[in-house]
Amino acid sequence: MSSTDILNLQSILDFIRSEYSGRDFIGLHEPLLDESDEEAVRACVRSTFVSSAGQHIGEFEREIEAWTGTKHAIATVNGTEALCLALLLAGVRAGDEIITQAATFAGTGNAVWRAGGRPAFVDVERSTLGMNPDALAAYLEEHAEFRGEETINASTGRRIAAVVPMHTFGHACRIAAIVDICNRYRIAVVEDAAESLGSYAHGKHTGTFGLLGILSFNGNKVITTGGGGMVLTDDDDLAARAKHLSTTARIAHCYEFVHDEPGFNMRMPNLNAALGMAQMKKLPKLIEAQRSLAAKYREFFRKAPWEFVDEPEGTQSNFWLNAVLMKDRAERDAFLEVSNSQKVMTRALWRPLHLLPMFSEDPRGDLPVTMDLYDRIVNIPSTIGGKI
Ligand SMILES: Cc1ncc(COP(=O)(O)O)c(C=O)c1O
Repeated sequence: MSSTDILNLQSILDFIRSEYSGRDFIGLHEPLLDESDEEAVRACVRSTFVSSAGQHIGEFEREIEAWTGTKHAIATVNGTEALCLALLLAGVRAGDEIITQAATFAGTGNAVWRAGGRPAFVDVERSTLGMNPDALAAYLEEHAEFRGEETINASTGRRIAAVVPMHTFGHACRIAAIVDICNRYRIAVVEDAAESLGSYAHGKHTGTFGLLGILSFNGNKVITTGGGGMVLTDDDDLAARAKHLSTTARIAHCYEFVHDEPGFNMRMPNLNAALGMAQMKKLPKLIEAQRSLAAKYREFFRKAPWEFVDEPEGTQSNFWLNAVLMKDRAERDAFLEVSNSQKVMTRALWRPLHLLPMFSEDPRGDLPVTMDLYDRIVNIPSTIGGKI
C-alpha cells in the first residue's frame, strides 16, 4: 500500500469518527440498552419468574407475530437452535443434504450439522449478498433427480431436504424466486433471517416466505434479548410441534411430568423475553436510526472510490451491518489493520463456509462471487446507541 492509499483509507475513518464523536472505541454493533430495559429485567427478577415459565415469553412471541406478519412465532434460546429446530420440523433426517450459501455466518452451517444434515454450498450475488437463485437453479439442474416423492442429489445419493437462504447484513435476498425454484423441486425453504428483523422484500417481512424462518436476538443484532431466537411459520401444525419439541415434549399437566417423545430444552427464558419486550418498544426508532446512518454512509461513499452496499431494488433493509467493497484483498487488509489499530472496529466477511475445515469436503457449485466478496467486503461501525 502506498502512503496515498493509506491516506485515502484514513478519510473513511475520519468520517466514521465524525459520526461517533466523543467516543474512544467505536464498536461494530453495540446493543442499545436504557432504563426501560433495566426496569423490565428488574421487574422480571422481582417476580421470580426468570426461567422457562412466565408471561413474557408468550407476550414476546405475539409481538414478533404482529411485527413480522407471521401466523406463529416460537421463542428459542438462540438463533442457531431456532434454525436447527426449523430444519428438523421441515423434515430433515440424518444424512440429508441442505443447500445454503457459502457466504454466511458459521451458525448457519452449524445448525445444519446439529440437525444431522450435510450442507451443500451455492453462490451469492453482488446485488443482494444473498443466495443467487440462478446459482441454486443451476446446482439443482445439474444434481437433482426425482425418485418417488423425494428429491435426491444424484451425485452424492443424499436426499435434498431443504434450502436455507440467508438475508445478509439485513439485506433481503431474492427470496420469492428461491421459493419458486424450491417449489418446482419439492424442497422446503427455511429462511435464515437471523440478521433481518425489520427487513422486507416487496413489502413482506423476511423470514416469512419459506415454510419456516428464524430470527436471532444475539447481543449484536438490531434488538437483543441477551441471547435468543425465534422460529416463524404460518403452519399451525409445525408451530404446535415447534413449541412441543423445544419445551422438552412435555404434555401439559398441573402436577404430572409426562413427556411423549425425546424433546429439547431450547426454551427462551422469561428473563430474556422481558428484555425482548422492552427492546420491541424501541424497534421502529432503531430501524429508523439504522436507515438514517446508512443514508449518511451512502452519501459519503457516493463521492469516494469505494462501493457502498445498498439495499437491493424492491426491498427495504434494516441496514443491520453497513458494508463497503474495497478494491482488492490487499486494500481490505490494510483498512482492517489501520481501523482496528485506531479502535474503530471493522471486520471482513465471514470466511466462506466451504473453506472451514468441518465443511471443506461438502459439495458446492461455483463460488466466484462469494470469493470476490470475501476478498473485498469490510463491515463498518453500525452501532445506533447514542443516536436515538
Ligand atoms: C446468519 C446467521 N445465522 C445464524 C445466527 C445464529 O444466531 P445466534 O447467535 O442467536 O445463535 C446468526 C447470528 O448470530 C447469523 O448472523
